[in-house]
Amino acid sequence: MKIIGINASPKGDKSQTRRLVTGVLEGARQAGADVTFIDICSLDIAYCTACGTCYAKGECVHDDDYPLLFEKMMDADGIVLGSPNYINAVTAQLKTMLDRMADAIHCQSFSGKYGCAVCTAGGSYADEVADYMNMTLLHLGATTVGKVAVNVGADPNAIAVGEKQAKELGRKLAGAIKTKWKDPVQEKHHEERREYFKRLISFNKDLWVHEYEYWKGLGELK
Ligand SMILES: Cc1cc2nc3c(=O)[nH]c(=O)nc-3n(C[C@H](O)[C@H](O)[C@H](O)COP(=O)(O)O)c2cc1C
Repeated sequence: MKIIGINASPKGDKSQTRRLVTGVLEGARQAGADVTFIDICSLDIAYCTACGTCYAKGECVHDDDYPLLFEKMMDADGIVLGSPNYINAVTAQLKTMLDRMADAIHCQSFSGKYGCAVCTAGGSYADEVADYMNMTLLHLGATTVGKVAVNVGADPNAIAVGEKQAKELGRKLAGAIKTKWKDPVQEKHHEERREYFKRLISFNKDLWVHEYEYWKGLGELK
């Protein structure tokens, strides 16, 4: 069982969010997972230019660190996304990575994987930013198992409490992977999204050749 944790704070070792990501990984490790931590701010990931090459060919025009990162995500059974709240959203570094994943969303590439999200904020909206990350994992096809959201500002103990919750979340993530846990609400969502993308890709089949061939290869399109 492989789980990767991605932190999107530029603060390196001093990041509060990192404490939550590593907390989740520690809980998962105790439950038997092989865990890897990734600091995406140390990677070179270029902006999506909306050229559509990934839809057509399954590869990107950029030569940077993203393909290897995506390979690591695809090799994992579980993915933990962590970001601080920057103006009520994820950091630009995480958004840049997510924007490179439009083809992965069309192909529902995280189907069968599990995920969760952690966020810290100075004062507010940690919950909403964590929800956004979980929604994105869901849109990639993954099943999400929960979040830890900590508004660190006014409470010096908040992060320590959050770390405990993060370890618990890590154990839950590992448990969901082991038992192949299914959530009927998320299953219904996945089913609807798969039908939606199959229709969209069929409509664009002359342009989005790779994606059409991908779904055809799964036996889902004729
Ligand atoms: C550019 C920037 C924008 C921020 N925007 C918000 C915000 O909108 N709301 C908030 O509560 N905290 C905001 N913060 C505070 C961070 O979310 C908070 O310090 C967080 O714990 C930092 O996490 P880190 O230590 O992992 O980098 C912002 C911080 C920075 C540097």
